[in-house]
Amino acid sequence: MLKNDEVPFYEPMLEKMIKKNKKRLNYDFLSSKLYNDVDVFFIAVGTPEKNDGSADLKYVYEAVDGIIKNITKNTTIVIKSTVPVGTNNKIKEYIRDNLKKFIINVVSNPEFLSQGTAVQDEINPQRIIIGTDSKQAIKTIKDIYKHKDEKYVLTDSNTAELIKYASNSFLALKISYINEVSNLCEKFNANIEDVEKGMKMDKRIGKYFLNAGIGYGGSCFPKDTKALEFMAKSVNSEIQTITATIKVNEKQVTKMLDKARKYYSNFDGLNVAILGITYKPSTDDIRDSPAIINLNKLLEYKTAISVYNPIPIKKLKEIYKDRIKIVNNIAETLKNADICFIFTEWQQIKEMNLKLFEKNMRKPIILDGRNCFELNQIKDYRVIYESIGRKTINNLN
Ligand SMILES: NC(=O)c1ccc[n+]([C@@H]2O[C@H](COP(=O)([O-])OP(=O)(O)OC[C@H]3O[C@@H](n4cnc5c(N)ncnc54)[C@H](O)[C@@H]3O)[C@@H](O)[C@H]2O)c1
Repeated sequence: MLKNDEVPFYEPMLEKMIKKNKKRLNYDFLSSKLYNDVDVFFIAVGTPEKNDGSADLKYVYEAVDGIIKNITKNTTIVIKSTVPVGTNNKIKEYIRDNLKKFIINVVSNPEFLSQGTAVQDEINPQRIIIGTDSKQAIKTIKDIYKHKDEKYVLTDSNTAELIKYASNSFLALKISYINEVSNLCEKFNANIEDVEKGMKMDKRIGKYFLNAGIGYGGSCFPKDTKALEFMAKSVNSEIQTITATIKVNEKQVTKMLDKARKYYSNFDGLNVAILGITYKPSTDDIRDSPAIINLNKLLEYKTAISVYNPIPIKKLKEIYKDRIKIVNNIAETLKNADICFIFTEWQQIKEMNLKLFEKNMRKPIILDGRNCFELNQIKDYRVIYESIGRKTINNLN
């Protein structure tokens, strides 16, 4: 696909960027030609979660092996993948044991891009972490990135690796924290939106990652928090805040299903509408998406499920085949539904015509796991509307 200028996943601006730089890009996979005369290799392969929570490094070592076997001169390897603390040093040893002919500098340079804004994040990163003891490697990286000196943090590779896990886990912690506060809001009849607003005005707290919802997902936060917890245990230590973060998230993810049981003690025979299936907006990534966890739980019942996502997700059809109905407009998704779950805060969902609920659903019960609508807007419609950390609107009685 890449050879035909096609991007195999959805990422704003990426296709344009690839087309613009067509002449400078070559795509190859595992052919020895790829390695001829290369100054710098960036390894950005996946580091998925193993059953015990640790990170699987097999793809990283496969990539290193490819380099060791095929390089034609001294080179630098930049490890972009998120790898456990100590990995860069182990890779250095591995290279030393297996390669005598050439010298390879190994640099930890963790990636901080966010899916959905990856291109901007890459062009204008907030910081660049370089973990190495090689002055030559630092120069090489700086020559590539060409950013101002104040953007760099120069450190050793263990520290660089830890910065990545500490950052992702901290963001996950903020999410779990505000989710727990939202649970208190429900008990005290307080309003989480105003709590968030009040907190975000404090510069020391900051305004990001403080939106209550059905928890974090995606290919990074779940695996990176668990990997950090695993790493702490491996050195007879612990990171209790992150252990709590993980536990809170596991419970939060299915919160809307728990709420739904108030209306239906059994979901058998229901028509269910789902709005939003990706782990966050502006991506087609459904890896570890809270929506998918909920969808799988709903499929344990004899439910008829219609799913709407503003951009098509090829994988959804491949995985679920005829077990769900994939619909490309909201009205059709809501047709005759007995309940509607909102799992992702896509702009298209936030801006939808609210009349569609009462107009199309058999029973307009809306369980919004992302607080997409203002209570003031939705209160004028003949619906039951439950969200996160805010009062329930029940206009059906
Ligand atoms: N996705 C993100 O938002 C993000 C952000 C920051 C850091 N990271 C980290 O970056 C790494 C990659 O994440 P991802 O989401 O892109 O994973 P991914 O699984 O989507 O992509 C990895 C790619 O590497 C390819 N690959 C595997 N082995 C290869 C080899 N030997 N040679 C060439 N290509 C090979 C795979 O085919 C796949 O396309 C992970 O460690 C992740 O934690 C991801």
